[in-house]
Amino acid sequence: MPRISLKKLYALKSSKVGITAITAYDASFAKFFDNCGVDIILIGDSLGEVIKGEKNTHKVTLDEMIYHTSAVCRSTKSSYLIADLPRESCKSINRLTRDAKKLFRVCKINMLKIEINSKNIHYLSKLHDEKIPVCCHLGLTPQYVTNRKSFRKYGKCPSERIEIIKNACLAEKLGAKILLLECVSDEVVNSLKTIVKIPIIGIGSGKSCDGQIIVCYDLLGISYNQSPSFLDKKYFSIPSFHARLNKYISNVKKFT
Ligand code: KIV
Repeated sequence: MPRISLKKLYALKSSKVGITAITAYDASFAKFFDNCGVDIILIGDSLGEVIKGEKNTHKVTLDEMIYHTSAVCRSTKSSYLIADLPRESCKSINRLTRDAKKLFRVCKINMLKIEINSKNIHYLSKLHDEKIPVCCHLGLTPQYVTNRKSFRKYGKCPSERIEIIKNACLAEKLGAKILLLECVSDEVVNSLKTIVKIPIIGIGSGKSCDGQIIVCYDLLGISYNQSPSFLDKKYFSIPSFHARLNKYISNVKKFT
């Protein structure tokens, strides 16, 4: 079976079938998720925490992303693959362009994910020129978090709400193909759903997104650092991981 296409992900959005996404960092987990029919596998820079045992994602390198992304690519056939561009790559537009081209072409993934804010959003047009499809991560952006207080809901106050909506619209205009909203208020998600055409994948952003993503170790119940407050603890009553993953998939499929 060929890999799920972006067109298929857009079709899921328009038919209101939730898009399922999960992180993976190695061949065995990735193959298992692929076989279970997960739509998107994200090789997230959360590997800094769950694989390397660090307190955040800040020290993940491009070489580490390439190593883990290659393992996931090698072991999967069907899921759409997105890999994170690490924080070190986003320091300048030249570095970002060089690293994005390398990660995208060496690993043969479908899309790159970039954590976006008002300062770096203009980088997107460069990637659009290079024909690299991009998923924009907005709201809580772990690469820019400096203390625990940043782990909160974004877009509750009007100025923040306007900023997220403005950036999401600009991202779409600059060529972003998917939005990932982390810890964003329901109000923002509901407004954006009436404005942008591209799929919105959420994490801790309520049930009305077009799809949901989860860090696989959180679903396993072995989050390395603190488990996120929005994690649905009901999954833990299902003892088998296979059954738990299937429950996650069926829950997301019927959301939206
Ligand atoms: O790196 C990651 O795992 C992520 C998730 C929080 C979606 O970006």
